[in-house]
Amino acid sequence: MSGDARKTAEGLSYLSGFGNEHSSEAEPGALPEGRNSPQRAPLGLYAEQLSGTAFTEPRAHNRRSWLYRIHPSAAHPAFVRTDNGALRTGPFTETPPDPNRLRWNPLPAPAEGTDFLAGLWTLGGNGDATQRAGMAVHLYHANASMDRVFGDADGELLIVPERGGLLLHTEFGRLHAEPGHMALIPRGVRFRVELLDASARGYVCENYGASFRLPDLGPIGANGLANARDFRAPTAAYEDVEGPVEVVNKFCGNLWTAVYDHSPLDVVAWHGNYVPYVYDLRRFNVIGSISYDHPDPSIFTVLTSPSDTPGLAGVDFVVFAPRWLVGEDTFRPPYFHRNVMSEYMGLVEGAYDAKAEGFVPGGGSLHNMMSAHGPDRETFDRASAAELRPQKIDDGLAFMFETRWPLTLTPQAAGAEHLQQRYDDVWQGLERHFRPLH
Ligand SMILES: [Fe+2]
Repeated sequence: MSGDARKTAEGLSYLSGFGNEHSSEAEPGALPEGRNSPQRAPLGLYAEQLSGTAFTEPRAHNRRSWLYRIHPSAAHPAFVRTDNGALRTGPFTETPPDPNRLRWNPLPAPAEGTDFLAGLWTLGGNGDATQRAGMAVHLYHANASMDRVFGDADGELLIVPERGGLLLHTEFGRLHAEPGHMALIPRGVRFRVELLDASARGYVCENYGASFRLPDLGPIGANGLANARDFRAPTAAYEDVEGPVEVVNKFCGNLWTAVYDHSPLDVVAWHGNYVPYVYDLRRFNVIGSISYDHPDPSIFTVLTSPSDTPGLAGVDFVVFAPRWLVGEDTFRPPYFHRNVMSEYMGLVEGAYDAKAEGFVPGGGSLHNMMSAHGPDRETFDRASAAELRPQKIDDGLAFMFETRWPLTLTPQAAGAEHLQQRYDDVWQGLERHFRPLH
Protein backbone atom coordinates (compact mmCIF):
# COMPACT_ATOMS: atom_id res chain seq x y z
CA MET A 1 0.00 0.00 0.00
CA SER A 2 1.27 3.43 -0.85
CA GLY A 3 2.10 6.01 1.77
CA ASP A 4 -1.05 7.88 0.76
CA ALA A 5 -3.19 5.32 2.56
CA ARG A 6 -1.43 6.20 5.79
CA LYS A 7 -2.61 9.79 5.46
CA THR A 8 -6.00 9.66 3.83
CA ALA A 9 -7.88 6.78 5.38
CA GLU A 10 -10.15 8.53 7.83
CA GLY A 11 -11.56 11.98 7.95
CA LEU A 12 -14.35 12.69 10.33
CA SER A 13 -14.03 13.77 13.88
CA TYR A 14 -16.08 11.35 15.92
CA LEU A 15 -17.63 12.06 19.28
CA SER A 16 -17.19 8.46 20.35
CA GLY A 17 -20.65 7.31 19.47
CA PHE A 18 -22.31 8.82 22.48
CA GLY A 19 -25.37 9.89 20.63
CA ASN A 20 -23.69 11.95 17.95
CA GLU A 21 -24.88 11.46 14.41
CA HIS A 22 -22.38 11.40 11.60
CA SER A 23 -22.76 10.91 7.92
CA SER A 24 -20.54 10.37 4.92
CA GLU A 25 -21.04 9.65 1.25
CA ALA A 26 -18.56 8.39 -1.32
CA GLU A 27 -20.76 9.55 -4.21
CA PRO A 28 -22.52 12.92 -4.15
CA GLY A 29 -26.21 12.52 -3.46
CA ALA A 30 -25.96 8.92 -2.22
CA LEU A 31 -27.44 9.86 1.16
CA PRO A 32 -31.19 10.32 1.06
CA GLU A 33 -32.44 13.60 2.47
CA GLY A 34 -35.02 13.57 5.24
CA ARG A 35 -35.85 9.84 5.15
CA ASN A 36 -33.86 6.80 6.26
CA SER A 37 -35.58 4.42 3.90
CA PRO A 38 -37.24 6.17 0.97
CA GLN A 39 -39.24 4.17 -1.53
CA ARG A 40 -36.29 4.40 -3.90
CA ALA A 41 -32.91 5.15 -2.32
CA PRO A 42 -30.60 7.44 -4.31
CA LEU A 43 -28.38 6.00 -7.07
CA GLY A 44 -30.20 2.67 -6.99
CA LEU A 45 -28.74 1.77 -3.58
CA TYR A 46 -30.33 -0.48 -0.97
CA ALA A 47 -31.09 1.05 2.45
CA GLU A 48 -30.24 -1.10 5.47
CA GLN A 49 -30.13 -0.46 9.21
CA LEU A 50 -27.37 -1.89 11.40
CA SER A 51 -28.45 -1.95 15.07
CA GLY A 52 -25.77 -2.12 17.76
CA THR A 53 -28.30 -1.78 20.58
CA ALA A 54 -31.85 -3.01 21.00
CA PHE A 55 -34.31 -0.73 19.21
CA THR A 56 -35.72 0.48 22.51
CA GLU A 57 -32.59 1.22 24.54
CA PRO A 58 -32.46 4.76 25.95
CA ARG A 59 -31.58 7.43 23.44
CA ALA A 60 -28.28 8.23 25.20
CA HIS A 61 -27.08 4.66 24.67
CA ASN A 62 -28.85 3.80 21.45
CA ARG A 63 -26.52 3.01 18.55
CA ARG A 64 -27.50 2.34 15.00
CA SER A 65 -26.41 3.36 11.54
CA TRP A 66 -28.13 3.42 8.17
CA LEU A 67 -26.08 2.00 5.32
CA TYR A 68 -26.75 2.69 1.62
CA ARG A 69 -25.15 -0.16 -0.28
CA ILE A 70 -24.89 -1.76 -3.69
CA HIS A 71 -26.18 -5.14 -2.46
CA PRO A 72 -28.24 -5.73 0.69
CA SER A 73 -26.34 -7.74 3.32
CA ALA A 74 -29.09 -10.36 3.13
CA ALA A 75 -27.95 -11.41 -0.36
CA HIS A 76 -25.57 -14.20 0.58
CA PRO A 77 -25.42 -18.00 0.48
CA ALA A 78 -25.47 -20.17 3.61
CA PHE A 79 -22.53 -20.03 5.98
CA VAL A 80 -20.74 -23.29 6.78
CA ARG A 81 -18.45 -24.04 9.69
CA THR A 82 -14.75 -23.52 9.26
CA ASP A 83 -11.79 -24.08 11.52
CA ASN A 84 -11.49 -21.72 14.50
CA GLY A 85 -7.69 -21.73 14.37
CA ALA A 86 -6.32 -20.37 17.65
CA LEU A 87 -9.40 -18.26 18.32
CA ARG A 88 -11.43 -19.15 21.42
CA THR A 89 -14.56 -17.70 23.01
CA GLY A 90 -16.20 -17.47 26.41
CA PRO A 91 -17.34 -19.30 28.41
CA PHE A 92 -13.74 -20.33 29.06
CA THR A 93 -13.77 -23.62 30.94
CA GLU A 94 -10.77 -25.62 29.78
CA THR A 95 -8.33 -24.61 32.54
CA PRO A 96 -8.89 -23.80 36.23
CA PRO A 97 -8.81 -20.03 36.78
CA ASP A 98 -5.24 -19.32 37.91
CA PRO A 99 -4.52 -17.15 40.98
CA ASN A 100 -0.85 -16.80 40.04
CA ARG A 101 0.80 -13.73 38.58
CA LEU A 102 1.58 -14.63 34.97
CA ARG A 103 3.63 -13.02 32.24
CA TRP A 104 4.24 -13.87 28.59
CA ASN A 105 6.88 -12.97 26.04
CA PRO A 106 5.63 -11.93 22.58
CA LEU A 107 3.85 -14.43 20.35
CA PRO A 108 6.23 -16.43 18.14
CA ALA A 109 6.25 -15.53 14.45
CA PRO A 110 3.54 -17.31 12.45
CA ALA A 111 3.92 -19.29 9.23
CA GLU A 112 4.18 -17.34 6.00
CA GLY A 113 0.85 -16.25 4.58
CA THR A 114 -0.87 -15.72 7.96
CA ASP A 115 -3.42 -12.93 7.78
CA PHE A 116 -4.90 -10.95 10.69
CA LEU A 117 -7.77 -13.38 11.23
CA ALA A 118 -5.60 -16.50 11.05
CA GLY A 119 -3.06 -14.74 13.27
CA LEU A 120 -5.50 -14.21 16.16
CA TRP A 121 -4.48 -16.23 19.22
CA THR A 122 -6.68 -16.22 22.29
CA LEU A 123 -5.02 -15.83 25.68
CA GLY A 124 -8.20 -16.14 27.73
CA GLY A 125 -11.23 -14.28 28.89
CA ASN A 126 -14.41 -14.34 30.92
CA GLY A 127 -18.17 -14.22 30.63
CA ASP A 128 -20.20 -15.72 27.84
CA ALA A 129 -20.46 -14.39 24.31
CA THR A 130 -23.98 -15.77 23.94
CA GLN A 131 -25.04 -13.75 26.99
CA ARG A 132 -23.34 -10.59 25.64
CA ALA A 133 -21.29 -10.25 28.85
CA GLY A 134 -17.55 -10.57 29.39
CA MET A 135 -14.51 -10.28 27.20
CA ALA A 136 -11.60 -12.08 25.62
CA VAL A 137 -7.95 -11.13 25.27
CA HIS A 138 -6.40 -12.04 21.94
CA LEU A 139 -3.00 -11.37 20.46
CA TYR A 140 -2.31 -11.25 16.75
CA HIS A 141 0.79 -11.76 14.65
CA ALA A 142 0.30 -11.59 10.89
CA ASN A 143 2.46 -11.33 7.81
CA ALA A 144 -0.12 -11.20 5.00
CA SER A 145 -3.02 -8.93 4.14
CA MET A 146 -6.51 -10.41 4.24
CA ASP A 147 -8.10 -11.26 0.92
CA ARG A 148 -11.26 -12.21 2.81
CA VAL A 149 -13.66 -10.22 4.95
CA PHE A 150 -14.39 -10.76 8.62
CA GLY A 151 -17.27 -9.80 10.88
CA ASP A 152 -17.64 -10.60 14.58
CA ALA A 153 -21.19 -11.04 15.86
CA ASP A 154 -19.84 -11.93 19.33
CA GLY A 155 -18.39 -8.58 20.26
CA GLU A 156 -16.65 -5.38 19.32
CA LEU A 157 -12.93 -5.57 18.63
CA LEU A 158 -10.60 -3.07 20.27
CA ILE A 159 -7.30 -3.42 18.42
CA VAL A 160 -4.02 -2.15 19.88
CA PRO A 161 -1.22 -2.41 17.27
CA GLU A 162 2.23 -2.95 18.71
CA ARG A 163 4.17 -3.54 15.50
CA GLY A 164 3.25 -2.68 11.93
CA GLY A 165 0.65 -0.35 10.49
CA LEU A 166 -2.85 -1.58 9.63
CA LEU A 167 -5.25 -0.30 7.02
CA LEU A 168 -8.71 -1.44 8.08
CA HIS A 169 -11.10 -1.61 5.14
CA THR A 170 -14.52 -1.47 6.78
CA GLU A 171 -18.09 -1.18 5.58
CA PHE A 172 -17.91 2.48 6.62
CA GLY A 173 -14.62 3.26 4.86
CA ARG A 174 -10.94 2.92 5.66
CA LEU A 175 -9.20 3.43 8.99
CA HIS A 176 -5.49 3.67 9.47
CA ALA A 177 -4.00 2.41 12.74
CA GLU A 178 -0.32 2.50 13.65
CA PRO A 179 1.43 1.36 16.83
CA GLY A 180 0.46 3.98 19.42
CA HIS A 181 -3.13 4.06 18.16
CA MET A 182 -6.19 2.01 19.03
CA ALA A 183 -8.87 1.03 16.56
CA LEU A 184 -12.38 -0.16 17.26
CA ILE A 185 -14.57 -2.30 15.02
CA PRO A 186 -18.16 -2.47 16.31
CA ARG A 187 -19.89 -5.80 16.69
CA GLY A 188 -21.02 -7.15 13.35
CA VAL A 189 -19.23 -4.61 11.15
CA ARG A 190 -17.44 -6.31 8.25
CA PHE A 191 -13.81 -5.45 7.59
CA ARG A 192 -10.56 -6.73 6.22
CA VAL A 193 -7.05 -5.89 7.37
CA GLU A 194 -4.36 -4.79 4.96
CA LEU A 195 -0.84 -4.77 6.37
CA LEU A 196 1.14 -1.61 5.71
CA ASP A 197 4.41 -3.28 6.72
CA ALA A 198 5.89 -6.74 6.26
CA SER A 199 4.30 -8.00 9.46
CA ALA A 200 1.99 -6.80 12.19
CA ARG A 201 1.63 -7.64 15.84
CA GLY A 202 -0.61 -6.45 18.62
CA TYR A 203 -3.43 -6.99 21.05
CA VAL A 204 -7.21 -7.28 20.77
CA CYS A 205 -9.89 -6.94 23.42
CA GLU A 206 -13.05 -8.61 22.19
CA ASN A 207 -15.81 -7.06 24.25
CA TYR A 208 -18.97 -9.15 24.46
CA GLY A 209 -20.68 -6.55 26.67
CA ALA A 210 -22.00 -3.03 26.23
CA SER A 211 -20.20 -0.89 23.66
CA PHE A 212 -17.16 1.02 24.82
CA ARG A 213 -17.82 4.65 25.58
CA LEU A 214 -16.00 7.54 27.20
CA PRO A 215 -16.04 7.46 31.00
CA ASP A 216 -17.90 10.17 32.89
CA LEU A 217 -15.62 12.91 34.18
CA GLY A 218 -17.38 14.04 37.39
CA PRO A 219 -15.45 16.85 39.09
CA ILE A 220 -12.77 16.79 36.38
CA GLY A 221 -15.22 18.78 34.27
CA ALA A 222 -16.06 18.90 30.60
CA ASN A 223 -12.56 18.18 29.26
CA GLY A 224 -9.79 15.71 29.86
CA LEU A 225 -8.79 12.09 29.66
CA ALA A 226 -9.59 11.03 26.08
CA ASN A 227 -11.21 13.98 24.35
CA ALA A 228 -14.12 13.12 22.09
CA ARG A 229 -12.84 15.23 19.18
CA ASP A 230 -9.74 13.06 18.84
CA PHE A 231 -11.68 9.94 17.83
CA ARG A 232 -11.71 9.57 14.06
CA ALA A 233 -14.29 7.78 11.95
CA PRO A 234 -13.85 6.82 8.29
CA THR A 235 -15.17 8.68 5.33
CA ALA A 236 -17.34 6.47 3.16
CA ALA A 237 -15.44 4.33 0.65
CA TYR A 238 -16.72 1.28 -1.16
CA GLU A 239 -15.52 -1.72 -3.12
CA ASP A 240 -17.46 -2.33 -6.33
CA VAL A 241 -16.37 -5.95 -6.75
CA GLU A 242 -18.57 -8.46 -8.57
CA GLY A 243 -16.84 -11.79 -8.04
CA PRO A 244 -16.16 -14.37 -5.36
CA VAL A 245 -15.28 -12.91 -1.95
CA GLU A 246 -14.94 -15.08 1.14
CA VAL A 247 -16.71 -13.70 4.19
CA VAL A 248 -15.99 -15.15 7.63
CA ASN A 249 -18.50 -14.69 10.41
CA LYS A 250 -17.68 -15.27 14.09
CA PHE A 251 -20.89 -16.38 15.76
CA CYS A 252 -21.23 -17.72 19.33
CA GLY A 253 -17.62 -18.82 19.40
CA ASN A 254 -17.30 -20.45 16.01
CA LEU A 255 -16.11 -19.26 12.63
CA TRP A 256 -18.46 -19.71 9.70
CA THR A 257 -17.63 -18.97 6.10
CA ALA A 258 -19.48 -18.20 2.88
CA VAL A 259 -18.39 -17.17 -0.57
CA TYR A 260 -20.31 -14.11 -1.72
CA ASP A 261 -20.59 -13.10 -5.37
CA HIS A 262 -19.64 -9.52 -4.45
CA SER A 263 -17.70 -7.63 -1.81
CA PRO A 264 -19.80 -6.80 1.26
CA LEU A 265 -17.69 -3.67 1.69
CA ASP A 266 -20.03 -1.98 -0.79
CA VAL A 267 -21.51 0.81 1.35
CA VAL A 268 -21.59 3.99 -0.71
CA ALA A 269 -23.00 6.24 2.02
CA TRP A 270 -23.95 6.00 5.66
CA HIS A 271 -25.23 7.97 8.61
CA GLY A 272 -25.60 7.12 12.27
CA ASN A 273 -23.73 6.72 15.53
CA TYR A 274 -22.61 3.07 15.27
CA VAL A 275 -19.32 3.33 13.42
CA PRO A 276 -15.71 2.16 13.65
CA TYR A 277 -13.06 4.61 14.85
CA VAL A 278 -9.39 5.14 15.64
CA TYR A 279 -7.71 7.12 18.41
CA ASP A 280 -4.10 8.18 18.89
CA LEU A 281 -3.26 7.13 22.46
CA ARG A 282 -0.67 9.90 22.76
CA ARG A 283 -3.49 12.43 22.62
CA PHE A 284 -4.71 11.17 25.99
CA ASN A 285 -4.89 14.11 28.39
CA VAL A 286 -3.38 12.68 31.56
CA ILE A 287 -4.86 13.85 34.85
CA GLY A 288 -2.85 13.33 38.03
CA SER A 289 -1.83 14.57 41.44
CA ILE A 290 0.07 17.86 41.78
CA SER A 291 0.34 17.61 45.56
CA TYR A 292 0.99 14.21 47.17
CA ASP A 293 0.02 10.56 46.62
CA HIS A 294 -1.35 9.45 43.28
CA PRO A 295 -4.89 8.63 42.32
CA ASP A 296 -5.98 5.15 41.33
CA PRO A 297 -5.18 4.05 37.77
CA SER A 298 -8.80 4.64 36.79
CA ILE A 299 -7.62 8.16 35.93
CA PHE A 300 -6.03 6.59 32.85
CA THR A 301 -9.31 5.19 31.49
CA VAL A 302 -9.69 5.81 27.76
CA LEU A 303 -12.91 3.87 27.24
CA THR A 304 -15.23 1.91 29.47
CA SER A 305 -17.80 -0.80 28.85
CA PRO A 306 -20.29 -0.33 31.69
CA SER A 307 -22.20 -3.10 33.43
CA ASP A 308 -25.58 -2.84 35.13
CA THR A 309 -23.82 -1.72 38.34
CA PRO A 310 -22.77 1.95 38.28
CA GLY A 311 -18.97 2.27 38.27
CA LEU A 312 -18.39 -1.44 37.72
CA ALA A 313 -17.01 -1.96 34.23
CA GLY A 314 -17.32 -5.12 32.21
CA VAL A 315 -13.99 -3.95 30.89
CA ASP A 316 -12.02 -0.72 30.98
CA PHE A 317 -9.35 0.19 28.45
CA VAL A 318 -6.64 2.08 30.31
CA VAL A 319 -3.48 3.67 28.89
CA PHE A 320 -0.34 4.72 30.72
CA ALA A 321 0.59 7.60 28.44
CA PRO A 322 3.58 9.95 28.77
CA ARG A 323 3.16 12.17 31.81
CA TRP A 324 4.87 14.20 34.50
CA LEU A 325 5.21 12.92 38.06
CA VAL A 326 5.47 15.71 40.60
CA GLY A 327 3.91 14.33 43.80
CA GLU A 328 5.81 15.25 46.95
CA ASP A 329 6.59 12.63 49.60
CA THR A 330 5.10 10.07 47.23
CA PHE A 331 6.07 6.57 46.23
CA ARG A 332 5.67 7.34 42.56
CA PRO A 333 5.50 4.00 40.73
CA PRO A 334 2.25 2.06 40.95
CA TYR A 335 1.76 0.95 44.53
CA PHE A 336 1.52 -2.59 45.84
CA HIS A 337 -2.06 -3.65 45.65
CA ARG A 338 -4.67 -6.37 45.37
CA ASN A 339 -7.69 -5.70 43.24
CA VAL A 340 -11.12 -7.28 42.92
CA MET A 341 -10.87 -6.46 39.23
CA SER A 342 -8.58 -8.52 36.99
CA GLU A 343 -5.83 -6.85 35.03
CA TYR A 344 -4.27 -7.83 31.72
CA MET A 345 -1.45 -5.48 30.74
CA GLY A 346 0.40 -5.07 27.47
CA LEU A 347 3.21 -2.85 26.29
CA VAL A 348 3.27 -1.03 22.95
CA GLU A 349 6.74 0.42 23.31
CA GLY A 350 9.50 1.29 25.76
CA ALA A 351 9.29 0.31 29.39
CA TYR A 352 6.72 0.42 32.18
CA ASP A 353 7.59 2.29 35.34
CA ALA A 354 6.72 -0.52 37.78
CA LYS A 355 8.98 -3.16 36.25
CA ALA A 356 12.72 -3.03 35.71
CA GLU A 357 12.81 -5.81 33.12
CA GLY A 358 10.94 -8.77 31.67
CA PHE A 359 7.83 -6.87 30.59
CA VAL A 360 8.56 -6.29 26.93
CA PRO A 361 6.69 -4.81 23.95
CA GLY A 362 4.40 -7.46 22.52
CA GLY A 363 4.39 -9.38 25.80
CA GLY A 364 1.79 -9.19 28.51
CA SER A 365 1.01 -9.86 32.13
CA LEU A 366 -2.07 -11.08 33.95
CA HIS A 367 -2.84 -10.17 37.55
CA ASN A 368 -6.09 -11.93 38.23
CA MET A 369 -8.65 -11.03 40.91
CA MET A 370 -6.98 -10.36 44.30
CA SER A 371 -3.54 -11.47 43.17
CA ALA A 372 -0.90 -9.37 44.91
CA HIS A 373 1.33 -7.31 42.65
CA GLY A 374 3.18 -4.05 42.31
CA PRO A 375 6.71 -2.84 41.76
CA ASP A 376 9.57 -5.30 41.59
CA ARG A 377 12.40 -5.09 44.11
CA GLU A 378 14.66 -2.98 41.94
CA THR A 379 11.89 -0.48 41.24
CA PHE A 380 10.88 -0.37 44.90
CA ASP A 381 14.43 0.25 46.10
CA ARG A 382 15.07 2.95 43.52
CA ALA A 383 11.76 4.76 44.01
CA SER A 384 11.99 4.63 47.80
CA ALA A 385 15.37 6.37 47.74
CA ALA A 386 14.77 8.75 44.83
CA GLU A 387 15.15 12.47 45.18
CA LEU A 388 11.68 13.72 44.24
CA ARG A 389 12.12 16.26 41.51
CA PRO A 390 9.55 16.68 38.73
CA GLN A 391 10.05 13.72 36.44
CA LYS A 392 8.79 13.13 32.91
CA ILE A 393 7.81 9.58 32.04
CA ASP A 394 7.98 9.54 28.27
CA ASP A 395 9.77 6.34 27.32
CA GLY A 396 6.90 3.90 27.25
CA LEU A 397 3.31 3.24 26.30
CA ALA A 398 1.61 0.54 28.35
CA PHE A 399 -2.08 -0.27 28.53
CA MET A 400 -4.48 -2.41 30.54
CA PHE A 401 -7.68 -4.32 29.90
CA GLU A 402 -9.24 -4.30 33.38
CA THR A 403 -12.29 -6.51 33.80
CA ARG A 404 -14.84 -7.33 36.47
CA TRP A 405 -14.45 -11.12 36.30
CA PRO A 406 -11.32 -13.27 36.56
CA LEU A 407 -9.72 -14.20 33.29
CA THR A 408 -9.51 -17.90 32.57
CA LEU A 409 -6.71 -18.98 30.27
CA THR A 410 -6.98 -21.04 27.16
CA PRO A 411 -4.87 -24.23 27.27
CA GLN A 412 -2.62 -22.72 24.59
CA ALA A 413 -1.86 -19.74 26.87
CA ALA A 414 -1.48 -21.82 30.04
CA GLY A 415 0.96 -24.14 28.29
CA ALA A 416 2.68 -21.65 25.99
CA GLU A 417 6.41 -21.84 25.51
CA HIS A 418 6.48 -18.06 25.73
CA LEU A 419 4.86 -18.11 29.20
CA GLN A 420 7.58 -16.96 31.59
CA GLN A 421 8.34 -19.58 34.23
CA ARG A 422 9.83 -17.41 36.96
CA TYR A 423 7.69 -14.27 37.02
CA ASP A 424 7.19 -14.60 40.80
CA ASP A 425 10.91 -13.96 41.22
CA VAL A 426 10.49 -10.23 40.53
CA TRP A 427 8.98 -9.92 44.00
CA GLN A 428 11.71 -11.94 45.69
CA GLY A 429 14.28 -10.14 47.82
CA LEU A 430 11.92 -7.42 49.01
CA GLU A 431 13.63 -7.06 52.35
CA ARG A 432 12.10 -6.68 55.75
CA HIS A 433 12.59 -3.10 56.98
CA PHE A 434 10.25 -3.13 59.98
CA ARG A 435 11.85 -2.19 63.26
CA PRO A 436 9.44 -2.49 66.22
CA LEU A 437 9.80 0.16 68.90
CA HIS A 438 9.76 -2.43 71.67
FE1 LIG B 1 -2.57 -3.58 39.21
